Amino acid sequence: MKKEFILALDQGTTSSRAILFNKKGEIENIAQKEFTQIFPRSGWVEHDAQEIWSSQLSVLTEVIAKANIKLDAIKAIGITNQRETTVVWNRKTGEPIHNAIVWQDRRTAAYCHLMEEKGLAKTIQEKTGLLIDAYFSASKINWILKHVKGARKLAEKGELAFGTIDSWLVYNLTNGTKHITDVTNASRTLLFNIHTLTWDQELLDIFEVPASMLPTVCDSSEIYGETSTTLGARPIPIAGIAGDQQAALFGQLCTQKGMAKNTYGTGCFLLMNIGNKPVISTHKLVTTIAWKIGKEVNYALEGSIFIGGAVVQWLRDELGIIKKASDVEQLATTVASTDGVYLVPAFSGLGAPHWNPDARGTLLGLSRGSNDAHIARAALESIAYQTYDILKAMELDAKSKIRELRVDGGATQNSFLMQFQADILKTNVIRPAVTETTAMGAAFLAGLAVGFWKDIDQLQSLWQEERTFIADKKKKYQPLLQEWKRATDTVKFWAEY
Ligand code: G3P
Repeated sequence: MKKEFILALDQGTTSSRAILFNKKGEIENIAQKEFTQIFPRSGWVEHDAQEIWSSQLSVLTEVIAKANIKLDAIKAIGITNQRETTVVWNRKTGEPIHNAIVWQDRRTAAYCHLMEEKGLAKTIQEKTGLLIDAYFSASKINWILKHVKGARKLAEKGELAFGTIDSWLVYNLTNGTKHITDVTNASRTLLFNIHTLTWDQELLDIFEVPASMLPTVCDSSEIYGETSTTLGARPIPIAGIAGDQQAALFGQLCTQKGMAKNTYGTGCFLLMNIGNKPVISTHKLVTTIAWKIGKEVNYALEGSIFIGGAVVQWLRDELGIIKKASDVEQLATTVASTDGVYLVPAFSGLGAPHWNPDARGTLLGLSRGSNDAHIARAALESIAYQTYDILKAMELDAKSKIRELRVDGGATQNSFLMQFQADILKTNVIRPAVTETTAMGAAFLAGLAVGFWKDIDQLQSLWQEERTFIADKKKKYQPLLQEWKRATDTVKFWAEY
């Protein structure tokens, strides 16, 4: 039987990847390419949108060549992407008018603060599920229109297009014929009403964004169009789009209300499926659209941690107490506890649920006998504690307890961390066999749209766990959690004082 595949394009913050999945949901081949990170000033982060496109195209071509398959073996393309990153391009030339402003960029923080002072936070949160922050796209579009000469005039004449990275990729894949996005990406812009599922004129007015710039919003799983024949003799349907964290939630098959996943990357992104109705957080989390398939919309609560796996890089690169990241587990487990040492890795502030941009990294509880192993262990435990803080806030917002936590990302290979995570949460932590869940989610969404897979039930049978970390329900972790709270309170106090 002829082999058939779904191709997932995973356009992340530091690299573009293309991954081929077969019918069993297994990875057939991968190609990956890093691209340039541009830091024009402190706190500013940009990408060259053309380089994003060319790197994505080159891995697309490479993975097909590596797998040695014909284009007609690819039944559909699914796209997943770094979210919020903002591209504005000229509709006539197809050229971006400025570098893409990346989600991490803080240049519009003062502007966002001003918006908060105007008392807009409540309206905006009720409509979008988000907090007013430079992280999301709206203030970035506003900045481009203000700072690129002639941009506002062109925008008002309808000659400029805005898109998150998914839109930009589809626009290029279809040779400029489609200007679309999906609901998950739209829900990260601060311009999209997550209840009505439409761009919201009041929000467009607040952020001074002309409606003519915006892409058409589509479902996360449908045939949007085909690749242009300028890219290859045979067009391929583009049939799935989701922002990377939502794609990972889908790839982990967290399709029931109350199911949650955590991606342990440089930072951590925790998402919980909250079902078909949005819950607006009262614990400083954001509400986002998880996906829309047919008529059914799923919402999620989301919390992000700025420093997750990056704390291990810090141990390696700045403290030099390990040679390679994977050495940390061995070092941390040479001691039975941190012996009262806590590391709060607020190197770039604290994310959810604290949202304290001025907090800084702090090591507490050192004694004369504290050594590198205690610090390594405290660093790993800090990843788990930060996850705990978010999950507890989520449970309060969702008014339900999670039954298990599905995990993915590089740091999940650290079994000590995963076990500690399960123990403090008193919830089992499940590591799947395929940890490329982001790309898998995009492939699943595309595969469903073209009938490559029949339904979510069939997808459930493809998802397999590799290992479950069973929570130790007997041991009391409350004293440790109380000390962690005291540590984060101290860090916040230090930031304010
Ligand atoms: O919200 C930002 C997020 O989508 C970035 O993800 O994996 O590219 O760092 P990643």
